[in-house]
Amino acid sequence: MKLIIREKKKTIYIFILIVLIAGIGIYLGLKGKEQENIVNDNIINKLEQENNIAKFNFETKTVKLNSGYEMPLNGLGTYSLTGDTCYNAVSSALKSGVRLIDTAYMYGNEEEIGKAIRDSGIPREEIFVITKIYPSQFDKTKEAIELALKKLDIEYIDMMLLHHPGEGDVEAYKAMEKYVKSGKIRSLGLSNWYVEELNDFLPKINIIPALVQNEIHPYYQENDVIPFIQNLGIVVQGWYPFGGRGHTSELLNNETITRIANNHNVSSAQVILRWNLQKGVVVIPGSSNPDHIKENMNIYGFELNENEMQEINSLDRNEKHDWY
Ligand SMILES: NC(=O)c1ccc[n+]([C@@H]2O[C@H](COP(=O)([O-])OP(=O)(O)OC[C@H]3O[C@@H](n4cnc5c(N)ncnc54)[C@H](OP(=O)(O)O)[C@@H]3O)[C@@H](O)[C@H]2O)c1
Repeated sequence: MKLIIREKKKTIYIFILIVLIAGIGIYLGLKGKEQENIVNDNIINKLEQENNIAKFNFETKTVKLNSGYEMPLNGLGTYSLTGDTCYNAVSSALKSGVRLIDTAYMYGNEEEIGKAIRDSGIPREEIFVITKIYPSQFDKTKEAIELALKKLDIEYIDMMLLHHPGEGDVEAYKAMEKYVKSGKIRSLGLSNWYVEELNDFLPKINIIPALVQNEIHPYYQENDVIPFIQNLGIVVQGWYPFGGRGHTSELLNNETITRIANNHNVSSAQVILRWNLQKGVVVIPGSSNPDHIKENMNIYGFELNENEMQEINSLDRNEKHDWY
């Protein structure tokens, strides 16, 4: 009998001990989370208080990044352009005065772009090249960076982005940070990072990104995300300015946009690009057509008034044209 009572007591003690340990564990876990949130708030608050919103210079057509480098306000996007089409588009853009080229490992065209830049005879310092590494490369970032440097073959990369959030992105970013120290990459950035992702990511890295590149067009405006990023002193760049292939005619023929374009004697494409610039968003329209490339450069000779800006703002449908 005594033995049974002793065994029962032992079981109760063990149970109490387990509950106590679990309680302490949960308490410490919550404390840790609280601490993490404080760190999160600190970095975001600190950046917001510094109030280093990058100003667009419409004279030089550049913006000074938080990395200290100047980046052009308009460029050429090269998604889906490969081979001779890509080489010719980049050559034509450089001849027309475009000085910002956006590429990515995923586009499979870094070699063509590097060759067009080398063949252009334009001093390397005058051209700004952005490339990206893909989540499938995050577990071997050093090799991915070396591969991009080799394919582009233009001495250094002006800006490298992580193409999407993904497993191992913090470590991948830290690997890119090392290349900034060595001078092989000049500035860093992120693509497809929104408010929640930035809140989570920024406290874990050392070099604040200079740029965030996200989907932005009149039907998907990100009006909550853009000011959040800009207030951190990070420049915003928009992809799919015309909605992306398959959606361009709907946007370019939008009644409001064509009416505003007629008012200024410019094209719908130019109105959309100008609307972006006036919102503080850098543009990288894609094109393989030399006339379109020239047209897309020519966005500094007119200004949209407050009313016209509001009219385009009111076209927002929160309609994303791609999954990320
Ligand atoms: N970070 C990311 O995840 C991500 C995702 C997508 C794209 N991007 C980047 O963003 C860039 C822009 O996106 P995108 O090229 O896919 O789509 P986009 O710029 O929205 O649209 C490109 C389409 O617009 C046409 N176009 C260009 N200028 C025009 C003009 N002045 N008048 C009429 N049509 C015109 C082009 O045709 P023509 O060739 O006939 O001119 C092409 O079919 C990409 O090239 C890429 O660099 C990044």
